[in-house]
Amino acid sequence: MQVFILTISPEMFQGPFNCGLFQKAVDKGVVKVDIRNIRDYTHDKHHATDDSPYGGGAGMVMKPEPIFEAVETIQTELAQKGITNNIPVILLTPQGRLLNQEIVKTLSQYNNIIFICGQYEGIDERVREHLVTDEISIGDYVLSGGELAAMVVVNAMVRLLPGFLGSPESLLSESHTDGLLEYPQYTRPPEFRNWAVPEILLSGNHAQIAKWRENQSIIRTKQRRPDMIKRAS
Ligand code: 6GU
Repeated sequence: MQVFILTISPEMFQGPFNCGLFQKAVDKGVVKVDIRNIRDYTHDKHHATDDSPYGGGAGMVMKPEPIFEAVETIQTELAQKGITNNIPVILLTPQGRLLNQEIVKTLSQYNNIIFICGQYEGIDERVREHLVTDEISIGDYVLSGGELAAMVVVNAMVRLLPGFLGSPESLLSESHTDGLLEYPQYTRPPEFRNWAVPEILLSGNHAQIAKWRENQSIIRTKQRRPDMIKRAS
């Protein structure tokens, strides 16, 4: 999978994409991340990526031209490699639809995907209307820009890709995959500070253990996320 990220702060991406499992995925060729500075697609003397809003008001608005040019440059490059199918162009904005595991899964199935990191103050509406194919938010709070949200979306997506996880079967039992939270996990020692691991887990009875875990998932989801129970499969 190839991920393009358009941002005015490319340096923000150095950490999360250059260490740990993500770095490994890049090295293995599971994902390629191409971070582009929107400023590189400006042509005026000051390399302006934003301007004041028509109609007045506080703050600045991201200009449309450099964003259109950046996306169209990527589209042209891909077309030259024979990739002409519809490539999603996703704007990260608190006004977008709320991210969940189902959306993450859908996004992870694209071979190419373009993310635009919006600045919270705003982006010229023509970008939304004529360039963007989808808008995503990562929660009901406001970040200063879409960069952290892009890192969240890309991280969640990439760990679903074949070759990312050592044991892909762990994807099957994790929280949100089946609409429930994950059951409690334990490891050695069997007793720690007088707190024992539930006996059933030491029994070796796999059918009983599976039943216990399913039950625990349901109890936990009811307690913590009653909203999820209604939707669970
Ligand atoms: Cl995608 N962007 C910004 N700026 N704030 C957010 C967000 C995105 N999702 C939640 N808050």
